[in-house]
Amino acid sequence: MELQKEITITVQVNGRPVTAVVAPEESLLEFVRNRAGVTDVKCGCNKGDCGTCTLVLEGQPVKSCLVLAAQANNKEVWTVRGMAADPLMQALQESFATHGAVQCGFCTPGMLVAARSFLAHHQQPDREAIKEALSGNLCRCTGYKKIVDAVAAVAASQASARD
Ligand code: FES
Ligand code: FES
Repeated sequence: MELQKEITITVQVNGRPVTAVVAPEESLLEFVRNRAGVTDVKCGCNKGDCGTCTLVLEGQPVKSCLVLAAQANNKEVWTVRGMAADPLMQALQESFATHGAVQCGFCTPGMLVAARSFLAHHQQPDREAIKEALSGNLCRCTGYKKIVDAVAAVAASQASARD
């Protein structure tokens, strides 16, 4: 059986092309943290359970520990850091702060990415829908009420801005 070889890939990470030679088993999470040096995306369980590694790949939120780096070749990924100028991300970050939804902050980047992706595609979601959208992201600190409160407040202000 022929062993798979290392390959050279280029991924746009927060708008910047990053090229590296990667092993076939290297994850996108490892690539973004270790090759691109973008460490706001966190490694929790490294097996798809906790959501701390959530980032946006080609417009969709993904758990980057479950995606091979090679699968992101010639694609673009965004993390919270790269979305700093995005108004919806800014609103969520402010709301997390004012609602006390950040304690140690380890889960926060993944939560923010998941929440932003959800609110970008859902107008006026109720709390149950928000809970469901964030159900793949675990938080050991705050409990989920404050996080859902923070996201619900942004959803409500989006709705009133549209009225
Ligand atoms: S580190 Fe990817 S889901 Fe936990
Ligand atoms: S704030 Fe600590 S894990 Fe969520």
